[in-house]
Amino acid sequence: MTIHARPPTLANRAAFYSDNKFIIGLFGANCSSGRAVTLVPERWTGDWQDCKKLVRMADEAGIDFMLPIGRWKGYGGVTDYQGSTYETINWASGLLACSKRITVFGTVHAPLFNPIMGAKMMVTADHIGEGRFGLNIVCGWNEGEFEMFGVRQRDHTNRYKQANEWCEVVKKAWADSDKPFDYIGEFHQHRGIKAKPKPIGGTRPVIMNAGASAEGQDFAIRNCDAYFTQATRDTIENTQARIAGIKKSALDLGRDLEVYTVGVVTCRKTMQEAQDYYHHVSVECADWSACDDIMAIKGLTPESMGREAFELRRSQFANGMGGLPIIGDPDHVANSFVRLHESGLRGIAVSMVNYIDDLPFFQQEVLPRLERKGLRAPVKA
Ligand SMILES: Cc1cc2nc3c(=O)[nH]c(=O)nc-3n(C[C@H](O)[C@H](O)[C@H](O)COP(=O)(O)O)c2cc1C
Repeated sequence: MTIHARPPTLANRAAFYSDNKFIIGLFGANCSSGRAVTLVPERWTGDWQDCKKLVRMADEAGIDFMLPIGRWKGYGGVTDYQGSTYETINWASGLLACSKRITVFGTVHAPLFNPIMGAKMMVTADHIGEGRFGLNIVCGWNEGEFEMFGVRQRDHTNRYKQANEWCEVVKKAWADSDKPFDYIGEFHQHRGIKAKPKPIGGTRPVIMNAGASAEGQDFAIRNCDAYFTQATRDTIENTQARIAGIKKSALDLGRDLEVYTVGVVTCRKTMQEAQDYYHHVSVECADWSACDDIMAIKGLTPESMGREAFELRRSQFANGMGGLPIIGDPDHVANSFVRLHESGLRGIAVSMVNYIDDLPFFQQEVLPRLERKGLRAPVKA
């Protein structure tokens, strides 16, 4: 059975098999609370039954991808924010089995996964999804998670060097040759690698990364098809210039790289309703003790960054841990997406307080506006 009208070439995989000029995905649904550090009772459960329901709704709405978070232990606070999480390749396999169109990513910590095992697990997911699996490579940053695994976290430069090797091993294991091979690197040594089957269609899954540092960005330029950045609080002109620079650096290496961002959507009938709900969730009912734990893990204190900057970051963490807040009526949300598109971004991964409760209104009111503005194609039956 062929699910897609289009063959699973790398270009089609990277375009999420869609005609959409502006790609939209859902971010963080494999974690309890998703990306909302809040006490409100309707916050996201992250349970399997809800994830399954969500992927079917998203598939029907024409949402292009689902991006999970590779998170291994909760942040504490009253809600133990993101304390309950699914391992993401398993999660993706399950969701791919009960959907038809949508791409589902697995988020893999290069320092924690053996690359041969990872390549095998991801090929399995890719076959289940008939070419709709995507890989998000992360190097990790949370010391407590590494301690839990008994793995020493490398310094920042070596983190990305190891991830480069990891990515090379995985890509070679996926490459279309049955000849056994050795990989002898600084961080990885593997002998007699044989890896069958290969990903669907004689190609490989779409690969993304979201490193914020120069090393992270360089990793994306050299290895990935999609790069997620948080540059969107800037002016359109600055963002345009930054994105053009990133894409040019990739092109200079003969690589196509698309740039995306992350956001948190609070969309209601009126501006006032949206702002009131945002205030309720992310100010009045924020899980401030979890925010403080996250800030502490990241070493962000009033002493290290100044009281004013600290308070601003703290308030940003309460709402999507720093993703761009998009709060308003459907016109405002649609227009915000238009501006992001104009700044050169290929798309966005959004989160919502409760994806299942919030997606229908977004589907009914925002997506048709984006179609009328030429950013999205109508969903095919
Ligand atoms: C869209 C997006 C997804 C991310 N997913 C994860 C994740 O699942 N797990 C994780 O440990 N870090 C995740 N990160 C953090 C990045 O991988 C990266 O470590 C962080 O941006 C810091 O950049 P640096 O590694 O270049 O210093 C994500 C960041 C973004 C913007």
